[in-house]
Amino acid sequence: MIHFMGTPKIETQRLILRQLVFKDTQKIFDNWLSDERVSDNRVSPAHKKVSETEERLERIIAEYESKEHCYWGIELKADGELIGEIDLYDFERTTDNCEVSYSIGYKWWNQGYGSEELKAVVDFGFHYMNIHKISAAHNTDNPASGRIMVKAGMVQEGIVRHMIRNAKNQYKDCAIYGILQEDYIRFNDTAKIQVIET
Ligand SMILES: CC(C)(COP(=O)(O)OP(=O)(O)OC[C@H]1O[C@@H](n2cnc3c(N)ncnc32)[C@H](O)[C@@H]1OP(=O)(O)O)[C@@H](O)C(=O)NCCC(=O)NCCS
Repeated sequence: MIHFMGTPKIETQRLILRQLVFKDTQKIFDNWLSDERVSDNRVSPAHKKVSETEERLERIIAEYESKEHCYWGIELKADGELIGEIDLYDFERTTDNCEVSYSIGYKWWNQGYGSEELKAVVDFGFHYMNIHKISAAHNTDNPASGRIMVKAGMVQEGIVRHMIRNAKNQYKDCAIYGILQEDYIRFNDTAKIQVIET
């Protein structure tokens, strides 16, 4: 059974994963949600107005009431900048499986932060939440996302043609990845992350 802990603060070498708060709105808008270079690789379109980000954030923050809501903002330890987000979602009762999704602001791409956040959440999901399997999918024209999945230990299980249609009305083929708790624990028998608050 999944052991839900909400969205505790998690510390990695260079990052703090923490709950989002209302005063993050402008940073979220500026750093990734208004940027098509980020949104083109996701399903939802880039935000044109800060009010769209406000509405989205209101929903995310309201859901922190639930222990089953796992949605982190990614903050750099070095300067406190909010650079992205990551969440675990679609918890499936019959299997104890779930999905993971993430974004990093363009300015911070290719500096290892995406790999670091995903590894942390995979570690948390298996060692602390007892999730059975974590899955994700990326557009095949977004290989950087596949690369961080591999670096987090995920394995490609296939490609689904025209799995999504994005905001620009383009169909995208998606590569599906997954990692099993039993495989992860075999090579990582103790947790690597530090959970600061529960
Ligand atoms: C996917 C994403 C989170 C990666 O974040 P990041 O901080 O740049 O990731 P990292 O720096 O840890 O790693 C990126 C890896 O991709 C590789 N990479 C980058 N561009 C690449 C390309 N065009 N082809 C192949 N590999 C590429 C980098 O070399 C790096 O691998 P390496 O460490 O082995 O050198 C970020 O690009 C992003 O937010 N993209 C937009 C949103 C998105 O795609 N979300 C996921 C939807 S499935």
